[in-house]
Amino acid sequence: MARTDARQAAPQTAPPTDLFTPAFHQNPHEALAGLRRTAPAVPVATPNGLRTWLVTGYEHARALLADPRLSKDMRVGRDLIPRNFADPDKQRAFLAESGERSQFPHVLSVHMLDSDPPDHTRLRRLVGRAFTARRVESLRPRITELTDELLDAMARHERLDLMEALAFPVPFTVICWLLGVPPDDRAAFRRWSNLLVSGAGTDEVREASASMIAYLKALIEAKRAEPADDMLTDLVHAQDAGDQLSSDELISMAFLLLVAGHETTVNLIGNGTLALLTHPEVRQQLAADESLWPAAVEEFLRYDGPVTNATWRFTTEPVEVGSVVIPEGEFVTISLGAAGRDPARYPDPDRLDITRAHTASVAFGHGIHHCLGAPLARLEGQIVLSRLLARFPGLRLAVDPDELRWRSSLMMRGLEELPVFTA
Ligand code: HEM
Repeated sequence: MARTDARQAAPQTAPPTDLFTPAFHQNPHEALAGLRRTAPAVPVATPNGLRTWLVTGYEHARALLADPRLSKDMRVGRDLIPRNFADPDKQRAFLAESGERSQFPHVLSVHMLDSDPPDHTRLRRLVGRAFTARRVESLRPRITELTDELLDAMARHERLDLMEALAFPVPFTVICWLLGVPPDDRAAFRRWSNLLVSGAGTDEVREASASMIAYLKALIEAKRAEPADDMLTDLVHAQDAGDQLSSDELISMAFLLLVAGHETTVNLIGNGTLALLTHPEVRQQLAADESLWPAAVEEFLRYDGPVTNATWRFTTEPVEVGSVVIPEGEFVTISLGAAGRDPARYPDPDRLDITRAHTASVAFGHGIHHCLGAPLARLEGQIVLSRLLARFPGLRLAVDPDELRWRSSLMMRGLEELPVFTA
């Protein structure tokens, strides 16, 4: 990638705004709408001071998600980090910490979401063969049964946290089934995964990643010795058949699937339930006509989708976004949450309307990195939310909606807890 003069035109980061603060996470849509009115792409600072260009309009978001001038190869992207700070103090602090974090092993990030073609093409093709529509559809009865068991357990409580009781266990158990993680190992797996995603204290992260790698290595060997009807076994076979999948890539792929497979769908269930509890008219519509469920799930994904920002990309040459030119070597964050509320695409965007025509949503991304698990996530969302309402017609929030706490995450939009009364 040639370094050009365009780099020197890199702007100063916009003065610290109220973006990414706890208040922002409570209600991001107003601030994002303000940015959308300002410019098609705005340089902003993340809490640790790194500059990224936030793109908030639907058309630009969709175009950039599929633009090959934006790279996701984080082996290269990592080297751009030191240059993309406006504040030298924050830069020093970040570099000191990321020096430590280089302990976060390379092996967990050689997966398809952090790569460009041809690596991406090869990795996605291999996993696509294991993650078939047949395999997803065959899970329908098991997901239904699992949901009903969890609903039975919920019925024994008058008040509970729906995240813990339902939103988390369904996607987590399902991805463990798919990959073939035995039930006894799931608690440890959940702990490591939480630590890695939360980015808590560095020693803990280091330990969790070492444990995760050791665990995945052992699991892969177990599948090799004793093949089962699961995706990990299929991937091991693909590797053994000389399909150019290195051992590191296999571990990384398993890691990506496990994390992407539950961290997201949890919030589709949580945010979808909240949307239902705060919109009784939508509940009535669904109670009267079950065929509206698929469209309702699409609308929940638009209205408060679990992935608020796509993963990071960087420009490999200057890229024009409407009236703005993003120079080469800059990070770009595409706000899927803001794209879903763009009035130019969705009339009256802040209204939850399950009868909207839904085409070309960006809630699952777009282009070559479009979510591999979208059919599974949709299936889980439809089963869990529809059975929840059917089973607990009196379900209601146990706190005022303003008291709910949202996670402070740059990428995910989800609730810390969702306290409900079951009757
Ligand atoms: C990629 C959203 C569930 C596996 C993505 C991307 C988005 C997304 C936006 C693209 C990110 C980018 O381009 O930066 C979601 C949402 C989900 C969900 C909203 C739930 C409602 C799942 C599930 C799985 C999964 C259940 C696996 C079982 C993946 C994988 C990729 C991906 C492997 C990377 C694809 C690639 O790089 O080619 N997802 N996802 N996702 N998702 Fe999902």
